[in-house]
Amino acid sequence: MTPITLLAIETSCDETAAAVISETGDAAKPWTLRSNVVASQAAIHREWGGVVPELASRQHLRDICGVVEEALEKAGATFDDLGAVAVTQGPGLVGSLLVGVSFAKSIAWTYGIPLVPVHHLAGHIESLVLQHGELPLPAAVLVVSGGHTSLYLVAEPGQYSLIGRTRDDAAGEAYDKVAKLLGLGYPGGPIIDNLAKTGNDRAYAFPLPRMTHADRNQPAPTAPSGLLPPSVERRVDFSFSGLKTAVSRLVDDRRGARGGAELAPGEIADICASFQRVVVQALLDRTFEAAAWLGARSLGISGGVSANSRLRADAEARGAKAGLPVFVPPLSLSTDNAAMIGAAGLRRLRDGVTADWDLNAQASLSL
Ligand code: KG4
Ligand code: ZN
Repeated sequence: MTPITLLAIETSCDETAAAVISETGDAAKPWTLRSNVVASQAAIHREWGGVVPELASRQHLRDICGVVEEALEKAGATFDDLGAVAVTQGPGLVGSLLVGVSFAKSIAWTYGIPLVPVHHLAGHIESLVLQHGELPLPAAVLVVSGGHTSLYLVAEPGQYSLIGRTRDDAAGEAYDKVAKLLGLGYPGGPIIDNLAKTGNDRAYAFPLPRMTHADRNQPAPTAPSGLLPPSVERRVDFSFSGLKTAVSRLVDDRRGARGGAELAPGEIADICASFQRVVVQALLDRTFEAAAWLGARSLGISGGVSANSRLRADAEARGAKAGLPVFVPPLSLSTDNAAMIGAAGLRRLRDGVTADWDLNAQASLSL
């Protein structure tokens, strides 16, 4: 089997990204990354306190040619070396996705090579395999980002079963909203992560968000029936909007106590540390519990929030205690990138999945 070199494109939100990735021929560590280029739009959206979809699509249009050229150049490759093109089909901002999908289609058409549609979250999951090789399966993988907090069971390579998800805000969204209400800027995750290092994480007792089977409006379980014991299958979902409201109330109270003045830096650091302690605990409690219920042989955490220093440290400590290997991507593969789309793309291509020319961007898309 001749190893394939693939160009991957990711434009689902506010990063224009392209990567070149090749097959190794080694089943245990199937891919090697040859280049990984990301043009971040964070500076543009910071001014507005969050991603402005129309600005995002327009910036993708400006950046995509240069980003793809740079990815090829850094890989020492040309279009003629490519065996396929992979692109994020969704979920994401439809105007942003369309730029990548149209661009990838044009390349595939021009060079007569297959076009591979990739689900953004499959990319986040495969970022772990790109870095570490195939995981011991079954694996419980938490994808935690600005748009998603979803827990998957990976029983076979490339097969993802949704076990739990957020019922309201994603964890990254909670970080971004809390940072905004503290006046800290965008994106909030890295800023809170940093400030939390100097704060007291027990200064404020925020409620630990937890969905239990005793919830009044009992929703249907997220996991397919039979995967989890019936007594726990409603307990794997996440919820972060109540925590965000608790922080918002506290900030209002503290500002009131200061006669409307801004909070002191020490107070802000304490709020960041206390908020982060609870988010990390909620994420890890559920993920480790589910891993035990599922008989997982490894646990993975990926997506933008997996860059969080406390989440990484606590996950590793818990994994060591439980005797469960824990995998996280390197920081360069945590937040959005095209390398992970390339990894998922090569997996799908070898599974025989390619797209027709009528491939469309999908704002919402299930995995
Ligand atoms: O995966 P990603 O780049 O985009 C989505 O698919 O959403 O994730 C972005 C999210 C943002 O909410 C950002 O605040 C969060 O990841 N994030 C972090 C950290 N770095 C990025 N959250 C907590 N701690 C971090 N160090
Ligand atoms: Zn993402």
